[in-house]
Formats: sequence, structure tokens, C-alpha cells
Amino acid sequence: MRYDSPSQGELELRPARPDDLDQVARFCLALDPDDWMPEVFPAWAGRQDGTLAVAVAEDQVVGILGHALPTPREAYLMGMRVHPAYQRQGIAKALTNYVTDQAFRAGAQVARLTTRRDNVAAQALLDATGYRRLGSWDIVPDWNWAAAMPPASQPGVSRLQVRQARPEDLEWLRPWVAETSRDPDASGLVAQPGETFEVMSLTGEGLASYIEAGEGWVAGPPGFASGDGAFALLDRHSQDWILRQFIGVLPAAAHLLATLDGLIRQAGQGVVNVTLPGRQFQLLVEAGLTGYEPEWWPGYVCQRTKQDSRGETGIS
Ligand SMILES: CC(C)(COP(=O)(O)OP(=O)(O)OC[C@H]1O[C@@H](n2cnc3c(N)ncnc32)[C@H](O)[C@@H]1OP(=O)(O)O)[C@@H](O)C(=O)NCCC(=O)NCCS
Repeated sequence: MRYDSPSQGELELRPARPDDLDQVARFCLALDPDDWMPEVFPAWAGRQDGTLAVAVAEDQVVGILGHALPTPREAYLMGMRVHPAYQRQGIAKALTNYVTDQAFRAGAQVARLTTRRDNVAAQALLDATGYRRLGSWDIVPDWNWAAAMPPASQPGVSRLQVRQARPEDLEWLRPWVAETSRDPDASGLVAQPGETFEVMSLTGEGLASYIEAGEGWVAGPPGFASGDGAFALLDRHSQDWILRQFIGVLPAAAHLLATLDGLIRQAGQGVVNVTLPGRQFQLLVEAGLTGYEPEWWPGYVCQRTKQDSRGETGIS
């Protein structure tokens, strides 16, 4: 696809090809010597299904952006970078519109992405491309939980109970999780374990399947329910864990954290990816999470719906 950038002249937007790797690696590593894009590029570009796009100007690859479909109706954009010498020329704007459009053509009704809260450029760009900020999204990636976190103390409330969630808990968990979706933050979303922790909706069906898989944990006083309890989703994904939902009130939340902490230590494999809506991350901190500063990734989740997008792309 050809696109006329106001200051760049002609820009070509097209699916990435495996032989773009050298040029992509060069500008990605110039932006960040530790960038993970060159590592994942061969697999992503090898799919050749249009989910990874590049921008080409003056016969050079100068920008990249991909999307995944964590569910058939939800897209997640990732890996946006523009060559340092070609920034502020409308390239990211064109790529964002192009990739969002590709995702909608593939059936998605909503497209989302996360960006760091200190990334002023990306936030201005997202504003300019019709993306709306849903709320905070906090990630502690590849975190060595057992080494960095002092053991969580069990709150001295012996009547609190913790156990794995059971299918019969769905009766009170479902409306509770649905209620959190109405919060004016990113609650109602959940990270998909995998390479990039794509964010998607937490549906009742999803909840049931996570509980079925033994990933749900509940805590509270005897006979607890949503008002005085806590709920977490902790999943073991290959060698690592992912904590991707943490709802509730204190002290049940503290008790739940202490139990999950024990579980993670006992398993002897302490790498945990915490990826949560901001309010849930805040609750986790109130419940006793500490020691995460060095690799903390405070972000925002932003989204654009297909409905909002009519006439938005400006791509001919
Ligand atoms: C963020 C990034 C992709 C923007 O790429 P870009 O091609 O320069 O962006 P565009 O030229 O399309 O900018 C579109 C709009 O975004 C905003 N914007 C872009 N860069 C900006 C900056 N440095 N400061 C403030 N606003 C900025 C502006 O509103 C701009 O419109 P304008 O130039 O008419 O004012 C680029 O800076 C980059 O690669 N950064 C490093 C990687 C990164 O942060 N990726 C985003 C991860 S979510």
C-alpha cells in the first residue's frame, strides 16, 4: 500500500518479509541495544500472514508494527518502532492506521496496545490515531519473584481461608469480575500468556476455563464471597508463572498473596510475570508485594474500536 506522508513523500506499507531482518535489526538496535524485536522477527515475519508490517521509504525499511489476534474479535498491536532518522514524519501514524485497519479487516472489532506511562511520544501518537486510554496496566516482566521479594507474611487472621477456585465459585465470581469491568480503568481485561502478554477481555467463558485449568485462587473468611474475599489467576506458562488477575479486599488479598508466594517458592521456579490492570496492581502492593522496582514496566492500555474508526485511517 502506498501512502503519502505529509513530509516524507511516498511511503510504502507492506507485510514484513524475512529478508527485511538486517534493516529492521539495525534501526531497532539503534533505538535500544537490548531490543527483542530482532530475535522474534524471523518467526513473526515468517508467518507471512500480514500480521507484521513494515514502512519503506527511500528503499529502506524505516518502521515496523505488528498485531496479533488473541481472540478472533480482539487485536493487540505490538513492536512499534520507527528509525531514529525518520521520526516525526508521520510514519508511525501511517503504520498504526494501516495495521489497525488490517486487524479490523481480519475480523477484530477492537484493537488495543500497551505503552509505557512515560512514553510521551507514543501517547501523543495514539491520541492522533484515535486510540483512547482505558487505564493503567502494570507489568513486572521476567521477575525473579523468589529472589527479589521477601517472603510475604501470613496476616494473623487465622479464620481466613485460601483454596483453589472451583466451578461452583463461578456463581459469585462471574458477576464480580463483570462488575470490575465497569471500573473506569483497564479491569475486565486479562493478559494472554505467551511471548508478548497480549491483552484481551476477561469473559465469563474464559474465567470458567481458567478455573477448570486450576489457575484460579480464592481467599476470604468462611463462606466468603466477593464482598470480603479475594481472587487471583496464577498460571504456569512453560518455565515461568504469570499472575494476571488480582481482585478483592484486604485482608483476604494479603492472605491470598502470602499463599501464592509460598506456592511459587515451593515450586522452586521463581520467574513470575506480573501483568495487571493498575488498580489490581495497586491492591497487590497493598497486600504486600515489594522489591519489584528495577524492572517495573508501568503502562497504559489504549484501544480503538472498529466502530470509532470509520473514516479514520486516511489511507487510500
Ligand atoms: C513513538 C514512535 C514510534 C513515533 O514514531 P514517529 O514516526 O516519529 O511518529 P509520527 O511522526 O507518526 O508522529 C505522529 C504524532 O505522534 C506524536 N509524536 C510523535 N513523536 C513525538 C515526540 N517525540 N514527542 C511528542 N509527540 C510525538 C505527535 O503528535 C505526532 O504528530 P505531529 O508530528 O504532527 O506533531 C517513535 O518515536 C519510536 O520509534 N520510538 C521508540 C519506540 C517506541 O517508543 N515505540 C512505541 C511503543 S508503544
